[in-house]
Amino acid sequence: MSLGARIVSGEEGVAKCVALLQEGGIAGVPTETVYGLAADAFQPLALASIFEAKGRPLTDPLIVHLPESAWIERVAIFESDIERALVNRLAGAFWPGPLTLLLKKHPNIPELVTAGSDRIAVRVTAHPLFQEVLRKLGSPLAAPSANRFGRISPVSALDVQSELGEAISLILDGGPSRHGLESTIVSLSSEGMEILRPGPITEDQLNEFRHIIHRESIVKTPGSLPGHYAPRKRLSILESDIMEVSNAVAHGLLTFRRPSEEVAARFQMVKVLSPGGDLKEAAANFYAYLRALDESGVEGIYSEALPEVGIGIAIMDRLRRAEYGSKHGTGHLHESRSP
Ligand code: TXA
Ligand code: MG
Repeated sequence: MSLGARIVSGEEGVAKCVALLQEGGIAGVPTETVYGLAADAFQPLALASIFEAKGRPLTDPLIVHLPESAWIERVAIFESDIERALVNRLAGAFWPGPLTLLLKKHPNIPELVTAGSDRIAVRVTAHPLFQEVLRKLGSPLAAPSANRFGRISPVSALDVQSELGEAISLILDGGPSRHGLESTIVSLSSEGMEILRPGPITEDQLNEFRHIIHRESIVKTPGSLPGHYAPRKRLSILESDIMEVSNAVAHGLLTFRRPSEEVAARFQMVKVLSPGGDLKEAAANFYAYLRALDESGVEGIYSEALPEVGIGIAIMDRLRRAEYGSKHGTGHLHESRSP
């Protein structure tokens, strides 16, 4: 029987991780948003291993991570002084942190990173251990979330083990992910900024820097499929009164605030995202609690809808895709787009 990936930590863990990445390997790494599956952004064979381990289609591009803003011109090109100034202001406010910017790709970046697009997604990570890995390696790291394609994102080393333990050899443990949701992805253009994926940096925070444009499209970025982040069990967002759920006794319940005892007693298992009603706390617990329900003995999962303000927008974005994925599959676009 395979023992799965080795979980390492501390300075020794960083050294092992750097050595593996240097020789073209891939490793699970901690970030402040969710755990990533990293490869040297300049080694095409290592990049190919990421897609293979995740079962991810090659059409879905990867985010490149830097330890500091000063590295940006190793991976991207500024198209104008205006863009450079805007990126500097955004970097000053939000980096290191959970903001990913789409910029023009540097010609030296392998095509696999961007799936053939001339735009590259870049962010500066705030996780100290991941920064250390990047600095010691001396190269940017491409890293998608460290889950099987379409599945719940990992927010601990053990989550990565349970997703990819058989497909990778090393996971660097950096504790639980602080934000618990993937970075906000923003594309910049002469008309303004468009949020391609909502996340911990909210529209209100970004609005101060540049006009936000809203465009309707089902798929904002190649990876934003309607079915994603999905549990294996069927997930339903509650639309009517919780007391009307007829099969509650075999099901799990995910709530925002603490439910009444009468409600809680009807379900087999209840996970409360934030007893005090704090959306940031709810975001930090979201994937961990969804995974706990999924891995428990419940037959299916019901979830309350959360208020769509601030980071609540990002949580509901993930919850809806998780519901869709649990019912219709998380595969490729042509399979999962609704008629
Ligand atoms: O917080 C995060 O962003 C985490 C951590 C590990 O940094 N990463 C993450 O990566 O969420 P991933 O691969 O699970 O999601 C990245 C999303 C995908 O939907 C992908 O299609 C999109 O970003 N993306 C990446 N590069 C892109 C590009 N060049 N153009 C358009 N979309 C891109
Ligand atoms: Mg992902």
